[in-house]
Amino acid sequence: MTRVFSGVKPTGHLTLGNYLGAVRRWAEVDQHRTDALFCVVDLHALTVDHDPARVRRLSRQAATLLLASGLDPELCTVFVQSHVDEHARLSYLLECVATDGEARRMIQYKEKAARERERGGSVRLSLLTYPVLMAADILAYGADEVPVGDDQTQHVELTRDLAVRFNQRYGQTFVVPRATPPKVGARVMNLQDPTSKMGKTDDVGPGIVYLLDEPDVVRKKVMRAVTDSGRDVVYDREERPGLANLLEILAACTGGAPEDLSGVYESYGALKKDTAEAVVEVLRPVQEKHKELCADPSYVEGVLRLGAEKAREMARPRVDEAYRAIGLLAG
Ligand code: AMP
Ligand code: TRP
Repeated sequence: MTRVFSGVKPTGHLTLGNYLGAVRRWAEVDQHRTDALFCVVDLHALTVDHDPARVRRLSRQAATLLLASGLDPELCTVFVQSHVDEHARLSYLLECVATDGEARRMIQYKEKAARERERGGSVRLSLLTYPVLMAADILAYGADEVPVGDDQTQHVELTRDLAVRFNQRYGQTFVVPRATPPKVGARVMNLQDPTSKMGKTDDVGPGIVYLLDEPDVVRKKVMRAVTDSGRDVVYDREERPGLANLLEILAACTGGAPEDLSGVYESYGALKKDTAEAVVEVLRPVQEKHKELCADPSYVEGVLRLGAEKAREMARPRVDEAYRAIGLLAG
């Protein structure tokens, strides 16, 4: 059976981008047709300035939201990365296979490091090695597919390179995975700045729709989305990025294609209204289920405990094998 692995970082509240780009498909498609693992990748949240209590809180919230989005522990494995030692164990071996040049070429590293330096801050070494830990997340489980948004495809490419190189040098150990981005919604953009991704780490901001935003907040954010000075409502990603983003969000929420919505709307106002309502409807069941789950935190804890046990069992043999293959004495 195909194995799927994906994860979400607890660096902020989950956004509509996370949902349309990744989580919704995990719940609606991946968990039903594959042997899937979904992980709150908390170690990755330590690569930038962090507040320990906040990371803990956001990890619990992310796990709760994954379940609220429809991940079913009967169908897939939901767990927290730091509960399973194999991720960090394997990451070190992969650091011995990756080069520093490879790590420095990662777009996300370059962007985040530059931003940090601009602020006068220092860059954590773990920000550079982050994609190697991500590769370990994926390779430890022998995942075939990695359902992620567009921003992660370069990291999955690196993962492939490391798997191939390890296998060539030390013998067949890892499955070579591939990224599977969604057709629509792979890159939801910030409503106030449609040239940058709707990312949860970009603070509050009226351009980011959070999964737990109240309906009226969602409506306000969508109605105030930046568009452009044109008048006709056509889909053109290059020339009309703000408009294209709204059309993509609407299409992703209603299950259509953004091209088909070209010319359907008479005005920006009408498009925004429909988009806002579509987003509210998509979020409603998630928010309802989230509320229910919050009333029973011991259920979520139980799911995570069991998930970690299952994950550990799946990862351990392959990571042990990699330790032997690379030349470490069996313990
Ligand atoms: P992260 O928030 O970086 O942990 O991302 C978790 C998942 O959501 C990854 O698969 C990302 O590719 C996806 N994702 C995050 N932001 C967006 C976005 N704005 N549009 C589409 N997918 C996204
Ligand atoms: N780097 C991913 C992100 O920022 C999160 C992540 C960590 C991940 N490990 C992973 C995604 C393994 C897929 C598979 O979104």
